[in-house]
Amino acid sequence: MAEPQVAIRCRGLTKSFGEGEAQVKALRGVDLDVPLGELLMLVGPSGCGKTTLISIIASVLDHDSGDCEVLGRDLARLNAREKARLRRADIGFVFQAYNLIPSLSSAENVAVPLLLNGVGRREALAKAERVLESLGLGGRGGGRPNDLSGGQQQRVAVARALVHEPRILVCDEPTSALDEKTGDTLMRLLREVALREGRALVIVTHDNRIFKYADRIATMNDGRIVSMDSRVS
Ligand SMILES: Nc1ncnc2c1ncn2[C@@H]1O[C@H](COP(=O)(O)OP(=O)(O)OP(=O)(O)O)[C@@H](O)[C@H]1O
Ligand SMILES: [Mg+2]
Repeated sequence: MAEPQVAIRCRGLTKSFGEGEAQVKALRGVDLDVPLGELLMLVGPSGCGKTTLISIIASVLDHDSGDCEVLGRDLARLNAREKARLRRADIGFVFQAYNLIPSLSSAENVAVPLLLNGVGRREALAKAERVLESLGLGGRGGGRPNDLSGGQQQRVAVARALVHEPRILVCDEPTSALDEKTGDTLMRLLREVALREGRALVIVTHDNRIFKYADRIATMNDGRIVSMDSRVS
């Protein structure tokens, strides 16, 4: 297959939750192109569909109608096994609620994507420790995530999403628990790592302190992208 130029391409993407009177239309027709090499930020009011959209892009949630292509692959045509393979190889996801596994140490949490890709345990843990260190958590990998502060747990979640060097990285509010300096360190690292060699990054955020790191900012409202701003930076 030819190498795709576009990392993410969505057309008329819709998604509803629930049935009948209780149905919520989370996405009402999203059109979006994210080229390789771009850091796109996604903003908009609570409930407008940001997490829903990036969950579909990360192929952890199925859409109802419309198209979503990631790295040239049409998600609607992939079966569960193919989607799992795509996620494992090419996608990193920082969840809004971190979703760390409490019974594993922080370094083991970070190592999970490597272990799933067949990397040996010792090598996976060593790499996990290096990524944690780059996020200011050197020496903290041995403890449980619940013994860390919120901001530290958030960085463990980012480390886990980055560790296997995915081509597509989606992050849901990755700086919400971080002070300005730690947020800057994280964003510099995300730009450097995630944009290496034709990758792409989509970051949902309310944090206007980090807008300067974006190539473009898409604003969502009520299940649609309503404006797109290019940043001059
Ligand atoms: N699993 C679900 N079941 C039912 N409704 C859902 C589910 N997930 C999301 N929704 C609804 O879909 C809409 C969009 O939710 P979504 O989580 O995408 O919003 P968001 O823009 O990420 O908001 P926030 O900024 O608060 O995180 C909301 O009305 C939400 O209540
Ligand atoms: Mg959300």
